[in-house]
Amino acid sequence: MTNPRPNAAAETRRPSSVRVRAVDERVVSSADLTGKTALVTGATSGLGRATATALARRGARVVLGCRDVAAAEKVATAIRAETGVASDDLVVVGPRLDLASDDSVRSFAREFTSEHPRLHLLVNNAGTNFLKRAFTKSGVGVIAQINFLGPAALTRALEAPILAAAAEGREKGGAGAGANVVHVSSVTHRYASVASVPKFLRDWDVGSYAATKLANVMFAYEIARRWGKRGVASSAVDPGAVYSSLWNNDAFFSARPMKAILSFAYAPPEDGAVAVVMASLAPFARTGAAGGGSGEKEANGDRDRDRRRNGNRNRKTDAAAHDAAADADDDDDARTRFYARGLFASSFISALAPGGSPAEDGPGVAGALARAAWSVKFGLWGAGALACSLLDYPLRRLSGGRVASATREVPSSAMSYDAAIASELWDEAGKVAGVRGG
Ligand SMILES: NC(=O)c1ccc[n+]([C@@H]2O[C@H](COP(=O)([O-])OP(=O)(O)OC[C@H]3O[C@@H](n4cnc5c(N)ncnc54)[C@H](OP(=O)(O)O)[C@@H]3O)[C@@H](O)[C@H]2O)c1
Repeated sequence: MTNPRPNAAAETRRPSSVRVRAVDERVVSSADLTGKTALVTGATSGLGRATATALARRGARVVLGCRDVAAAEKVATAIRAETGVASDDLVVVGPRLDLASDDSVRSFAREFTSEHPRLHLLVNNAGTNFLKRAFTKSGVGVIAQINFLGPAALTRALEAPILAAAAEGREKGGAGAGANVVHVSSVTHRYASVASVPKFLRDWDVGSYAATKLANVMFAYEIARRWGKRGVASSAVDPGAVYSSLWNNDAFFSARPMKAILSFAYAPPEDGAVAVVMASLAPFARTGAAGGGSGEKEANGDRDRDRRRNGNRNRKTDAAAHDAAADADDDDDARTRFYARGLFASSFISALAPGGSPAEDGPGVAGALARAAWSVKFGLWGAGALACSLLDYPLRRLSGGRVASATREVPSSAMSYDAAIASELWDEAGKVAGVRGG
């Protein structure tokens, strides 16, 4: 199955400022969220539960946004016990949230806002895969609805408490963002394309899991573009390969031999959630400008190494120019961040990914050659990505965390910077949420 080529007229470019940066995990994990409200969707299991627990440990009031309220109550009780939070009010279950239902998303947002006038951190984590073909009342494929449209509409419907938290952060002064929105994406976004928003939402074959995870990144990009200057940070995360109930929906993955392989090779949710937690905390840990500061330091683009490479003659000028460019990046509130960890943050994964496949209806021989070249690239990269998914956690575990454990800010797929499609996704989400503009 191939997806059509992105609209040639659309702006598809990767900002030149996107470089690999290491996250200083000691600084980031010391962020204090006392007095801040965080909403984690899909917190009944897996990454959501692990993230909610980590945020409660950092002092946040954590609201669990779940469709199974009874299960969420049990999880809330367990998190309170695990973290020893002083007050029951600090880990609470929100109103029922079923991302498959527009009505549920709207009523959740209404009730949440009346209870919590400020939302400092939204973690759009809930997601699913391996669903049978089905559509919502409005004709949207359920996977596109649950993984993309529901979370995007939720974000837009929560605009008031998010922007209120951001404004409060600005009033209080200091650096960094006052609010933060995190989307849990996936490595699969690197071979997807969303060329037409109506097709993505309504054509089951186009709105695949991978496409929904690309749409998450594009929406994160749009949040940064629209709300970044107002004090809202935005990022998307590839959590790597995690052994969670996500795989239970598929007969192949839930067969006993595959379960044995996954439970050995894939990370447990607490380990897999590390990059999600880093993305959640990073804007609140920064002591420098909103875009960078102490929480992140350059990795591959390391300034000192570049200085050494520069000849003596140009050294001062080049280093100064480089520093100025890096500082300009750090000042860029509107920059989306994409975080990955371990082997998933390697340049093999980010730089060699095939991107979305060429058009099915590409012209003649040239089209056939482009498709064949894409298939070869996809096959090679896919085999490497599979190897990464089987080796990432075992390497980390066997090395006692010395190998494959760093979280990095890395470039997301080139298509994720498509401004025209991202803006359309924003509008679709606004329609569902019942809000305009933004
Ligand atoms: N596992 C991986 O290897 C992996 C890799 C990359 C990205 N991810 C992403 O990570 C996120 C979390 O997945 P996970 O691995 O932690 O899986 P998980 O344990 O199955 O958790 C998924 C969560 O989403 C919730 N959810 C599903 N449908 C929902 C709906 N209609 N409305 C509200 N909540 C809903 C589930 O709630 P219920 O308990 O009610 O079902 C559950 O709490 C997903 O977005 C997934 O795409 C996972």
